[in-house]
Amino acid sequence: MSQIYQKRSTTEWQSLDAGHYMHPFTDFKDQMERGSRIIVKADGPYIYTSEGQQILDGMSGLWCCNLGYGQQEIVDAVTHQLQELPFYNSFFQCAHPPSIELSAKLAEVAAPHMNNVFYTGSGSEANDTVIRMVHRYWDLLGQPERKIFISRNNAYHGSTIGGASLGGMGGMHGQFTRLPYVHHVDQPYWFGEGGDMSPEEFGLKAARSIEAKIKELGANKVAAFIAEPIQGAGGVIVPPSTYWPEVKRICDEYGILLITDEVICGFGRTGHWFGADYFNVQSDLMPFAKGVTNGYQPLGGVMVGDRVAGVLKSQGGEFAHGFTYSGHPASCAAALATIKILQRDKILEQVRDTKGAYLQQKLGALADHPIVGEVRGVGFVGAIELVGDKAKRTRFDDNSSAGAICRAACIESGLVMRAVGDTMIFAPPLTMTNAQIDEMAEKARKALDLTEQRLKK
Ligand SMILES: Cc1ncc(COP(=O)(O)O)c(C=O)c1O
Repeated sequence: MSQIYQKRSTTEWQSLDAGHYMHPFTDFKDQMERGSRIIVKADGPYIYTSEGQQILDGMSGLWCCNLGYGQQEIVDAVTHQLQELPFYNSFFQCAHPPSIELSAKLAEVAAPHMNNVFYTGSGSEANDTVIRMVHRYWDLLGQPERKIFISRNNAYHGSTIGGASLGGMGGMHGQFTRLPYVHHVDQPYWFGEGGDMSPEEFGLKAARSIEAKIKELGANKVAAFIAEPIQGAGGVIVPPSTYWPEVKRICDEYGILLITDEVICGFGRTGHWFGADYFNVQSDLMPFAKGVTNGYQPLGGVMVGDRVAGVLKSQGGEFAHGFTYSGHPASCAAALATIKILQRDKILEQVRDTKGAYLQQKLGALADHPIVGEVRGVGFVGAIELVGDKAKRTRFDDNSSAGAICRAACIESGLVMRAVGDTMIFAPPLTMTNAQIDEMAEKARKALDLTEQRLKK
């Protein structure tokens, strides 16, 4: 098939881009001044720029291409579905085979009490759906005063008004008016906020900030607590072992719904289908997106546990919520193909039993670097903390921009890692070979060396 756009030089693309394209999470002025990096193709774990540079993608696109690029089976499934039935809606009691089959498949791979799914087009819409569904649930139970969501500082739950209100990102909150019924509590970020406490003590303390908030607001007014099993965009914050059991105890004790946002943790990232499975915690709702289609088609959704589905499905009256692209057939076909590969090639088992440990060991060895304070992670996701003083866990000066310097040094070295302040984060494709993991660790060390030299200047 012929290409739908003409091939241009990098400068031509950069100039069209600067003139017309407003990117997400971008300083538009800076974009116009510096010019964008143009990615033209990808294969396996590598992306290629319009300048011909090959870069190892340590972030799986945006935490979504868990099986990497060049997965022809997914392309074929989508192509076939577009030929057969490119679109039909799921409103008004209509459905199509791919959305039905995918629902049954998701119920099969999720925990036994997760038997229903509601589709959206993205993770943000999934979290908006969570708000709508939780409010509906309590209304149907005759407890309409339960409207409050408790979330965490520095959480990321998307960028719609609902998602960004649930999230705990100060920079985002400063740019719009938040939903008034979302309240935030401590994050379980031991490295940054644990002080002299042991990680276990700190995990309990962070969890108990939820209980304190429930008491402050009134237990009969709180609808739900939402959290990412591992905080992703906040800096890959893996909670101490004491955290999740205590969160579950608190939610059970006060009868509030527990929501694990699985948009990043889902579909193999931790070596399990969902982050809740990794932490062995039973949640009531699980928003998901990204890895479900390997990022090849937009698709999100909410896995609905029996506690909530039982109420929503047993009472009459329309749930007045949904999207044109809820359960898009081509997206569902991509998801079915993705799950087929994950199962057939035993990708989760490999991450859980062998390759996850190899990646964590290789990247973990960077902890000996003079500017690294901690390397942490689970399966195929992790973080490297850049510090000025290793022993005291203190950062470089506020305006040193160590993270930004390191991110640029990574690209120069042929590696994508993301910087969250001075925390470098990684979430590479689960299909990486051990040799590619070695390559990633070498490139990361080179980037750390460059960063150290530049910070000294
Ligand atoms: C945990 C979490 N929830 C929700 C979202 C939002 O997903 P989307 O960008 O598809 O709207 C993200 C995106 O990174 C995420 O990490």
